[in-house]
Amino acid sequence: METGIPLLPFAIDANLNPMPDSERLKAFENLGFGTLFTDHMAVIRWSVDAGWHDAKITARAPFAIDPASAVLHYAQEIFEGMKAYRTTDDKIVLFRPDQNAKRFAQSAERMAMPVLPQALFLRAVEELVRVDRNWVPSGDSSLYLRPFMFASEAFLGVRPAREYIFSVIASPVGPYFKGGSKPIAVWTAEHYSRAASGGTGAAKCGGNYAGSLVAQAEAQRHGCDQVVFLDAAEHRYVEELGGMNIFYVMADGSLVTPPLGGTILPGITRASIMTLAAESGLKVEERRYTFAEWQDDSKSGKLKEAFACGTAAVVAGIGTVRYEGGEFQIGDGSVGPVTESLREKLVGLQRGVTADPHGWVHPVP
Ligand code: PLP
Ligand code: COI
Repeated sequence: METGIPLLPFAIDANLNPMPDSERLKAFENLGFGTLFTDHMAVIRWSVDAGWHDAKITARAPFAIDPASAVLHYAQEIFEGMKAYRTTDDKIVLFRPDQNAKRFAQSAERMAMPVLPQALFLRAVEELVRVDRNWVPSGDSSLYLRPFMFASEAFLGVRPAREYIFSVIASPVGPYFKGGSKPIAVWTAEHYSRAASGGTGAAKCGGNYAGSLVAQAEAQRHGCDQVVFLDAAEHRYVEELGGMNIFYVMADGSLVTPPLGGTILPGITRASIMTLAAESGLKVEERRYTFAEWQDDSKSGKLKEAFACGTAAVVAGIGTVRYEGGEFQIGDGSVGPVTESLREKLVGLQRGVTADPHGWVHPVP
């Protein structure tokens, strides 16, 4: 248990020039992903000498950082992705924020960064959501929260930095994919890898995404929404997508998802889906699944559905798979019933429509 955290003074420095209500509500009518931002941000600093200090909510503004800041050279940066939802009875809730705090701490350890106490992570997120509560849209939209931390020390030697900035920004979002809830197309990268054994694949660090962009651009050139990464050692086993985990629904009703093993991001949506599926009587197997099996099982009908899942994407059915040698369809190419029912179960919980026996839903008072 971390001690002393609630005593860290958290200054609230209101934005004196917030977006007018009418402008915000107009923007809510057509939300995409990650282009519109709220009036405020949370900031906490850390240094070797002072530890965590200078915690505040302040008007959202650019950082002034030195050109020699370590993050700009050696990419010492980590982040999280979570959402605040407006429930049908007009409360604001977070979904399993303790899991984001925990994963952020694990990412920090992997990247040789200071570990932000989990209570302080949660406090920063909650304070920001409270101040920007009018920015939490209702219906299918939500407020995407992006906690992140970077090395701000000006120093060009290669070692863990001695100064960091932690921050949280927020962005009201609609669907992640342009097609909304239509099935997505994915591109299998047979030559690029995302993460190797012993690397940073399980950490949510910016560098993992930088390395994935050339493959994501290749996916887009082939008309696909996301890239599928295979394992780095043999280029045979499906690992995950550029920004989501993956599940397969087999004809016998069982679910298959690649096991975590250090190269895959341990998704909170993935873990939640595994629990919800098991509770609804589906067998869930974490096992390695090759790209060749995926092709064969799609052709033979042994595979009925596949879906991507993550905070940003929620649950997105996969209709088409493309690769250098061609393409194939999953089922009839539409979103299948198991995918749809798991999506509804998850969203029902997040929106406060269904009961929450697990205590996953965290109200922001
Ligand atoms: N895998 C990657 C590479 C991701 O970026 C994400 C998104 O955060 C996920 C999986 C899904 O994780 P979560 O369900 O915790 O959002
Ligand atoms: C998230 O789902 O929060 C992510 O970080 C993935 C990215 C596609 C935005």
